[in-house]
Amino acid sequence: MLAEHSKNKKVFDNGFQIAKNADLASKKYGQKNVINGTLGIFYNDNEEMHTLDIVNKEYKNLSDKELFNYSSSISGEERFIEAVKQYVLGKNYSNNLDNNFLEVIATPGGSGAIYNTFRNYINPGEVVLLPNYMWSSYKLMSKEVGGGFQTYSLFNNRGKFDLVNFENSVIELAKIQKNLVIVLNNPCHNPTGYTMSSSEVKGVMEILRAACSLCNIILINDIAYMDFNNKVNNFRDFYQDLPSNLLVIITFSMSKSFCCYGLRVGAQIAISSSTETINSFLDASLYTCRSVWSNIPKGGMTLFSNIVLDKKKYKQLLLEQSYMKNMLKDRTDIFLEEAASVNLKTLPYKSGFFITIPFDNISDEKMADKLKDENIFTIIIPGAIRLAVCSIPKYKIYGLAKTLKNIITTNC
Ligand SMILES: Cc1ncc(COP(=O)(O)O)c(C=O)c1O
Repeated sequence: MLAEHSKNKKVFDNGFQIAKNADLASKKYGQKNVINGTLGIFYNDNEEMHTLDIVNKEYKNLSDKELFNYSSSISGEERFIEAVKQYVLGKNYSNNLDNNFLEVIATPGGSGAIYNTFRNYINPGEVVLLPNYMWSSYKLMSKEVGGGFQTYSLFNNRGKFDLVNFENSVIELAKIQKNLVIVLNNPCHNPTGYTMSSSEVKGVMEILRAACSLCNIILINDIAYMDFNNKVNNFRDFYQDLPSNLLVIITFSMSKSFCCYGLRVGAQIAISSSTETINSFLDASLYTCRSVWSNIPKGGMTLFSNIVLDKKKYKQLLLEQSYMKNMLKDRTDIFLEEAASVNLKTLPYKSGFFITIPFDNISDEKMADKLKDENIFTIIIPGAIRLAVCSIPKYKIYGLAKTLKNIITTNC
């Protein structure tokens, strides 16, 4: 019955099921005896889904019209577009564009922004270049638009971004494809928590500028976790001296930074040195919006712009975000310190929701079973445990590294 291109579709991303199993275990064994480090949702230290007061208050003050009406435009509310530019690129963004053109399209979350980009830039049969550790939805999306994927290895043997492997992977594909879409997820990479240094970003851009002589390059930087970076974000490194066939698309999400995962608000921020490239981006992206989801929730966009464009509310937002960031830092500091003391290996972590713990002595399925036996619920990615520290209260972090070390080292 299914159309040919829809046969063999199956979602193996079982995070929501694991989270449900964790809830069941909590009911059976008591919440304090269960560790739920499954989803990328921030829970406070009382194990309640965390929300921001300023976001709550602003949302509940929206009028019926602001909440329930259609957006005034397919590309998103005008104030929202301005607010996204200021939020991501800085209040003075227009003075710092370095001769580039900038356009923003509102999308249903960061997912919509990534999908919209894949849809319009991957030619049939082409592959997108993804990091070898990644948010698994990228793979589904590339298949959904008729493409495939290949990976670059994220880390070299010194635990830094592997520029050599990145360059080789880019050149190999640039030689045979018309378009090459590449994904970075920086800062606070999911699932490792790696954040690239400015010189690593500059190294990536140098490689891409050179590869542009071989094919068109579309660089996506997924910034879903941008507000959990322990350093100041500087996205300007991504748009210096852009050749006309190198398009940078920063994909923004409100989900994590505003604790409103279900609101489904995000954006594509496209930056190019060419008017033609930017105009064709607008045309194609708007077409996809109109034909797939039409427009996105007006209430979410209004909430965002009301906060970001108001000095006092914005200040309050930053205060509440830094409270969350400190909570997260407390937890990750404890975990990493204890991991070092029991010799538990983790992938290089800098900041963000997740820490990844590699293992190689047992199968992924066996590891999931062993963790479940200890009432620990996490997502297993091939050969590694993705621990969502964002959802584990501080008191449960103590001793967790030692427990994981025991699980990994005991023979089964
Ligand atoms: C790396 C990464 N990118 C993008 C997203 C998309 O989030 P949303 O569609 O809720 O904005 C997520 C969500 O978990 C993510 O982990």
